[in-house]
Amino acid sequence: RYDLKRAEDFSGGKVAFDVYPLSRFDLPFPNYRQPSEVGVFSLDAERDFHNDGRKLRCYVVPPDPKHVNFDLTEGYDTLIKRDEDEKERLDHMLRWILKNRRKFLLARRSVSSSSETGEQESEHAESDSQLHTDFIAWRGHFTKILCTPYENQDGWTMAVSKFNGTWYISEVETPEQRDRRVNMAPRQREMTYWGYKFEQYLTAAEPNGKPETSDPVNTNEAFCTVIRTRLNTHSMVFSGEVDCRIADNRMRAPQCYIELKTSRETYKPNQQRNFRRYKLLKWWAQSFLPGVPRIVAGFRDDNGVVNFLETFKTMEIPNIIKADSPTWNPSVCVNFCDQFLAHVKKVVQEDNHRGVLRKKRVENSAEEELRMPEATRQQFLDVVRFKWRN
Ligand code: A3P
Ligand code: MG
Ligand code: MG
Repeated sequence: RYDLKRAEDFSGGKVAFDVYPLSRFDLPFPNYRQPSEVGVFSLDAERDFHNDGRKLRCYVVPPDPKHVNFDLTEGYDTLIKRDEDEKERLDHMLRWILKNRRKFLLARRSVSSSSETGEQESEHAESDSQLHTDFIAWRGHFTKILCTPYENQDGWTMAVSKFNGTWYISEVETPEQRDRRVNMAPRQREMTYWGYKFEQYLTAAEPNGKPETSDPVNTNEAFCTVIRTRLNTHSMVFSGEVDCRIADNRMRAPQCYIELKTSRETYKPNQQRNFRRYKLLKWWAQSFLPGVPRIVAGFRDDNGVVNFLETFKTMEIPNIIKADSPTWNPSVCVNFCDQFLAHVKKVVQEDNHRGVLRKKRVENSAEEELRMPEATRQQFLDVVRFKWRN
C-alpha cells in the first residue's frame, strides 16, 4: 500500500518535499491576484504558431440547453490528430515570449517603479534580458500541481531550470504515462475524441456563425491565452488553451472565456460523489488559474450522445462540493502550490547559463528561431519528480 509521496530531487532525493500530511496546507486561502491576459497566440491546422488570436472560437448558444442531441462519435474516421510523439515542451510559449518581450518590461516597471526614475528605466529596458517573472510554465502544469494533494494514482515529472532569474517548468512524460498513451485501448482512444467533437457542436469561427459539425476535427488547432498573475510571493506567466469566448465582444478576456467539458451522466449517489471528487476538482483547478469564469458541461451517455448541458460557475464549484461531505479543499490545493513553488525556488538556485531562451538565426531567413535547447534532460539542470512511494 502506498501511503507517502514526495517530490524529490532527480539527483538523489536529498531535497524532498512531502505532500503528506495535508493538514500543513489547510490554511487560509492565499493571495491570488486577479489573473490578467497579457497576450494570445494560435496554433493552426499544421500546428504552426501565429502571434495572434485567429483560432479563438465563439460560443453558440443551443436553442434548449436542457435538451440537446450531440452525437460525439460522429466523424471519428475523419479525425486529424496531433502527433503526440512530437514533444513541444515550452516552445510555443517561448516563441510568444520572444515576440512580446516589451510586455515583460512593463512587468519590470510595476516591480520597481518606486526605486528608479522612468528615464533610467527606459535606458535599462533596451538591454534588459530579464523577464521579471518568477515562473513560466503551461497552465496545465500548474493545474497538475494544484491537484497533487488529492492525486492518488498518477505521478508526474517536471523539469525545472532557472535562467536569468526566472524558473521554467516543463513536464517530462514519465515511462508510465508513455505506456498508457501508446497502449491506449481503441475504445479509450475513441472516447478522447468525444471531448473535441463536443467543442465543435457548440462553437463557430465567427460571432454569428453556425457550428460546422461535418468538418473533420483537427486537434492541432488551438487558441491560447497568456496570463500573468501572482500567487502569494510568486509572480507567474502561463499559457493555456481556451475553448471559446462569449460572442458578445463587449466582454473582456479572460472573463469572456468559456471552458467546455464532457462527462458521463450520473444517476447513482456514488457516481455523483466521484464526479465531484475527481472531475470537479480538475475542472475547478484548470479554470480557476486563468480566471475563466464559466464551464459548460455536456453530459453524455455510454454511447457518446450528449443529452443536456449544465453551466458551472468556476468560483461556485467550491461551494458545490462543500454542500455534502467535502472531498477536497481548494485552499489545500493553492497553499500546496504556493509552498511547492517556494520549495522549487529554494532547491533550484543555480542559474542555467546555457540558457532556456535562445534565439537562433534560421538559414536563408531573416526570421529568428527559438529553441528550448535540445530539450529537457540535458538543458534543464533540475528535475522534480512527484511519485508514489512505498
Ligand atoms: P473532455 O475534457 O470533455 O473530456 P479540454 O477540456 O482541456 O479543453 O480538453 C479537450 C478534450 O481533450 C477533452 O475533453 C479530452 O477529450 C481531451 N483531453 C484533454 N486532456 C486529456 C488527457 N490528459 N488525456 C486524454 N484526453 C485529454
Ligand atoms: Mg480545450
Ligand atoms: Mg475543454
